[in-house]
Amino acid sequence: MTDEPRPHPNPARRSHDHTVPALRRPAEENPAPAGRSPASPRRATIRSLKRPKKKAADGAKRPTPPRPAEKPRLKTLDRTLSKAGIASRTEARQWIARGRLKVNGRPARDPDQWVDPDRDRILLDGKPLRGEKKIYVLLYKPKGVLTTYNDPDRRKTVYSLLDRLEQWVFPVGRLDRDTSGLLLLTNDSSLAVLMTNPEYHVPKTYLVKASISLSDEQLGRLRDGLELKDGMTRPAKVRRIREASGRTVFELTITEGRNRQVRRMVEALGGQVLKLVRVGIGPISIGGQQIGTWRELSRVEVEALRRSVRRPKPRPTLAGDKGQDSAAERLTDRVEPPVT
Ligand code: URA
Repeated sequence: MTDEPRPHPNPARRSHDHTVPALRRPAEENPAPAGRSPASPRRATIRSLKRPKKKAADGAKRPTPPRPAEKPRLKTLDRTLSKAGIASRTEARQWIARGRLKVNGRPARDPDQWVDPDRDRILLDGKPLRGEKKIYVLLYKPKGVLTTYNDPDRRKTVYSLLDRLEQWVFPVGRLDRDTSGLLLLTNDSSLAVLMTNPEYHVPKTYLVKASISLSDEQLGRLRDGLELKDGMTRPAKVRRIREASGRTVFELTITEGRNRQVRRMVEALGGQVLKLVRVGIGPISIGGQQIGTWRELSRVEVEALRRSVRRPKPRPTLAGDKGQDSAAERLTDRVEPPVT
């Protein structure tokens, strides 16, 4: 089963990678009311607590922060700005009054609004506050787990595996429920958008077990690109690994992320995918990660990821090319080096 994609606001991305990291933030799917942090398992606990009201020194009623069971991290909005070192509290209150701030997509006009700087998305003039800590998580998703936050049928999702993680993250791309392997999650939407944009050709490597024995000619078709209902696939890297009782196990590296792409490529050859594991994205590999566990990427890994999404140099255009991949161009297209 595959999670149905949602249309991306940027039409350029609609026909390719259907994952829209920013849209998958529950706060944006379902913006939290002003004064609240985006929904998350931890926040759900916090929200369920009563918020006692208490009088401030000047007699005015001010909301009191909820008392979470965990270490409190809520601050008033004006204090958050001053703690970020960008304004005095007085200036911050003026900026807020002028409508320059947004919290989780909503204009914020109350300087005493409680916010969680680590989780709430706070924008000043449309830009995230400096100092927002970016986090990059590698999860070894098991088969049978959904790459989504909210499942109406209450099936297990990847968020149930992110225990101990204190910051909000969203998946960079998605894996089908029956696919296991490497899933990156982050709160860095700019990097995530680049990584899932097919223009950046970030290679994703899969181990595939097909239900049939695939000939060299069939593997060649995967390599050269084959016709799917949403168009030709780009050239791919293919490496036969072994034959086992009439089934072929092979490694496939593709630079697109269309919906159920690998499964559909194998189906186009007359087979089914029996097992699908994503083992690499760009320079990051699943390595020795235990299934169902996560870790933060190191700074070196994050830098390598950033380098892997550098926009490729424009290739020489062919006569008649109107800016889209022509068949001839696809033949000369080069997949980036294999993931190690
Ligand atoms: N291709 C698929 O068919 N499924 C996935 O989960 C990822 C790539």
